[in-house]
Amino acid sequence: MQMDCHNPVLLNETVGGLNIKKNGVYVDVTFGGGGHSREILKHLGEDGKLIAFDQDQDALLNTIDDKRFLLINENFRYVKRFLKFYGVRKVDGILADFGVSSHQFDEAKRGFSTRFNADLDMRMNQQDKLSAYNVVNNYDEGDLKRVLLQYGELRQAPVFARTIVSEREKEPIKTTEQLKQILRRYMPERRENKILAQIYQAIRIEVNQELEALKEFLLQTPELLETGGRLSLISYHSLEDRLVKRFIRDGMFEGQPDKDVFGNVEVPLKRIGKLIVPTQEEIKLNNRARSAKLRIAEKI
Ligand SMILES: C[S@@+](CC[C@H](N)C(=O)[O-])C[C@H]1O[C@@H](n2cnc3c(N)ncnc32)[C@H](O)[C@@H]1O
Repeated sequence: MQMDCHNPVLLNETVGGLNIKKNGVYVDVTFGGGGHSREILKHLGEDGKLIAFDQDQDALLNTIDDKRFLLINENFRYVKRFLKFYGVRKVDGILADFGVSSHQFDEAKRGFSTRFNADLDMRMNQQDKLSAYNVVNNYDEGDLKRVLLQYGELRQAPVFARTIVSEREKEPIKTTEQLKQILRRYMPERRENKILAQIYQAIRIEVNQELEALKEFLLQTPELLETGGRLSLISYHSLEDRLVKRFIRDGMFEGQPDKDVFGNVEVPLKRIGKLIVPTQEEIKLNNRARSAKLRIAEKI
């Protein structure tokens, strides 16, 4: 099975943002279908190197047969550890295209898409213990409410959490369709798709611990990058983008960064250019691009 690797989002902008040096070392922490990686390789010379990560075993099916390329089937929250294992301490650029791949969305049984009925799964790493089933059937009402409120930004989180808890006492909630049916009565018809997407997003973020992984990854990037090395990061929702933006600006996620004796802020990165979003044309061709936000930064 070859994964779908057409339509990498903001391809030229993201790879262009890396300012690739022919014999540099680059990392793509979200390999997926390999679209961005293939483009990076086109810009690398004989002595260049590209190391990619993806926690989904399915991504291995798209690996690239090229002596300059290595694909690591691990979570990018451990990026530094695995690069070190392969003898890499410093890199010239890191690309990330966060979130779910079109393959994961389109593969019905993975349970990521509101379009299909499937077992409650939503794990990007199919070896992980925590699945959507565990979240929906085992989390207590308070935790369910927190997940739906924080990660889905859902006003109706309290009633959704209460309903899930009372319904699962009758029988376990096993499928995405069951979950939909249970919660549908609280959704105005015209907003049903939007609300369902928010519910799925919330559960998915919790299952994959996406924000924790993102923070751990970002914190490792300044140490990994050579001076002048680049970060090119695409986010797909505001929770992600907020963390990326804050980290580039302040080198931290909360609070205020330290100032030197002159009152200048000491941060490891500087922003390159403005926020980049896809054109209407790209969105027309690739609906997954519609919420993409690209930020580029450079190690000072
Ligand atoms: C949006 S897709 C990337 C698509 C890719 N840029 C392309 O051109 O085909 C995101 C990929 O990142 C992977 N991923 C998401 N979070 C991850 C994490 N914490 N560690 C490793 N891989 C992750 C997913 O499994 C998915 O395959």
